Amino acid sequence: MTTDIQTIQDQAVAGISAATDQRSLEEARVAFLGKKGTLAAAAAGMKDIANEDKPAFGAALNKARAAITTALESKTLELQNLADQKSIAGIDLTLPARQLPAGGLHPLTIVKDRAIQILRRMGFALADGPEIETEYHCFDALNTPDDHPARNEKDTFYFDGGKLLRTHTSSVQIRTMENTTPPVRIIAPGSAYRRDDVDATHLPVFNQLEGLYVDQDVKLGDLKGTLEYFLQAMFGDNTEVRFRPHFFPFTEPSFEIDVKLHVQGQEPKWIEVAGCGMVDPAVFKSISKQRGDESFAPAKVTGYAFGMGIDRLAMIQYGIKDIRALIENDTRFLSQFA
Ligand code: DAH
Repeated sequence: MTTDIQTIQDQAVAGISAATDQRSLEEARVAFLGKKGTLAAAAAGMKDIANEDKPAFGAALNKARAAITTALESKTLELQNLADQKSIAGIDLTLPARQLPAGGLHPLTIVKDRAIQILRRMGFALADGPEIETEYHCFDALNTPDDHPARNEKDTFYFDGGKLLRTHTSSVQIRTMENTTPPVRIIAPGSAYRRDDVDATHLPVFNQLEGLYVDQDVKLGDLKGTLEYFLQAMFGDNTEVRFRPHFFPFTEPSFEIDVKLHVQGQEPKWIEVAGCGMVDPAVFKSISKQRGDESFAPAKVTGYAFGMGIDRLAMIQYGIKDIRALIENDTRFLSQFA
């Protein structure tokens, strides 16, 4: 009996190694190891065997099953290797892989990151505030009277219920002063919204970077020095910077800042990049009232603030003539900066 089993084992192993594909291998597996296969049939003979011979018979069965299983496994592997080799035949594996197109940063992101990097080096920390704002944070606390044109429905996106899309990042000044005590030295990059018609220099959604420094004895000279240094770090050491008197409700005195732009073949011209000024004591008064303490009492602190257009900085930096290019997602345009 045990010799029969050895025979089955030999036949099975031979049959398996003769298999040439997955299908014939599977047929061999079913024929020898399947429920109705040769080994199962032989095992059924156990009941006719003398008791003392049963252990040897059982051992022979186990050995045969193990040997057949091993043969099956190694044949499966061998067939798989063959199939793999076939599928790559004729392919030159030493060829360099096809290049995946690499992404790159958007020009606005590049310019914003650089601006943040320069200002952080000067000691400004990042601050943030919501884009859906209250009239209080966007206008009232910034000393902007009820009849100021910026508050007009024609210029500002209002929601039912009185909230609005912030028209400038200056609201972050207020939110910051509500939550900390001086000295305050923050910058707040972010989106701002106005109901402007789209043209080469206007988009209803644009990007600003707000700055605020409040401490004892902050002076106009600090503001000028900081922004001159910043703009020269951005655009080059020889960049000419000009402060032009202007009006903002929340600063006094107030200025607009221009940099001189040199374009080859054209007369150099002054381009406005930011608004700025010394924080109006009325703003400190209103914050003090809101806080119910004297941390920002106008008698104790002074400060400066500025707000610049990041889109404007990017247009100057890269000589972009139409602001719409920044939002059109044309990869031919964007890939120049990657
Ligand atoms: N918020 C002003 C604007 O959007 C810009 C600005 C001007 C911000 C003067 C300031 C500032 O912080 O002091 O036009």
